[in-house]
Amino acid sequence: MRIAVFSSKPYDRAFLDGANRSFGHELVYFEPRLTVETVGLAAGFPGICVFVNDRLDAAVLEPLTAGGTRAIALRCAGFNNVDLVTAERLGIDVVRVPAYSPHAVAEHTVALILALDRKIHRAHARVREGNFSLDGLLGFDLHGRTVGIVGTGVIGRVVAKIFGGFGCRLLGFDPRPNDDARRLQVEYVPLDELLERSDIVTLHCPLTPETRHLIDARAIGRMKTGAMLVNTSRGAVIDTRAAIDGLKSGRLGSLALDVYEEEGDYFFENLSDQVIADDVLARLLTFPNVLVTSHQAFFTQEAMEAIATTTLGNLRDLEQTGDCANRVPMPGR
Ligand code: NAI
Repeated sequence: MRIAVFSSKPYDRAFLDGANRSFGHELVYFEPRLTVETVGLAAGFPGICVFVNDRLDAAVLEPLTAGGTRAIALRCAGFNNVDLVTAERLGIDVVRVPAYSPHAVAEHTVALILALDRKIHRAHARVREGNFSLDGLLGFDLHGRTVGIVGTGVIGRVVAKIFGGFGCRLLGFDPRPNDDARRLQVEYVPLDELLERSDIVTLHCPLTPETRHLIDARAIGRMKTGAMLVNTSRGAVIDTRAAIDGLKSGRLGSLALDVYEEEGDYFFENLSDQVIADDVLARLLTFPNVLVTSHQAFFTQEAMEAIATTTLGNLRDLEQTGDCANRVPMPGR
């Protein structure tokens, strides 16, 4: 299939080109994100390949179909950036990579928690300046602490397994509890109880209308004073302004983010010579107890190989059979 690949970086090209030796698609790479302004680039391509910050709302989907595109392949698991109702009305197939390496995301989550707890980011900067003092670097043992996992799906369960190994107590909140998590000693409790009892709250649910700002001022107000909040799911699960207020009041002890609700204009780009115009992001970056990575939790060799192979296989299946096992589920089904 002739496929326009949006938001493509050199590393995307390397992995997609590598996997494409087994598929033989015609891949044309575009660096810009897919938006109303760039949708014209897709004209004449039956397939497009997009990532987390590409925009697939009605304003983009309509010109996309008018230009002849019939298939959208997300090279990610989340699909909150696609207007599925409009896609279905227009008859566009939407496929994704439901699971690639849950270990990649879970391990990055653990890396953020360890770094933030033991202040590795600050220690590293200090030591490079010849400052070997320990003042302000006091951490806490993870052993014996309570970790609250919001969303006990594939990634949440890997997180549970790892923290079980640390000797943590595990609480879970999920509208669809599962026995695999229970077998990992996850105790399911209502969300408020999880917030009240956890020393660390880590988010692994999808972004949906129900989970948008799930962690708002009210939820933060229920958390233990000084607790750590971690988000490697999707930015808008947290009301970032409420999190900043929580940090300022001391209710939140620390915050680790791999995702940010307005990340689209910033993440994945080198903007080091520019002023950050987003005051919320700029404020976040001033706190000593906040650690931000730019949506890199997925970014391992294993995950990139799996994403490339599944994405190109999804498009081959659509082309050859008109169907694909990795279709994005339509709302309400
Ligand atoms: P999954 O579908 O296996 O698990 C999601 C779980 O969240 C399910 O058990 C579901 O029942 C639960 N859930 C749904 N609504 C909820 C709610 N209101 N409250 C609590 N839990 C709820 O998905 P998986 O693979 O574990 O991924 C989770 C999320 O991680 C994805 O939706 C995606 O947004 C994010 N992600 C982030 C990446 C990164 O690089 N930072 C990479 C891959 C995924």
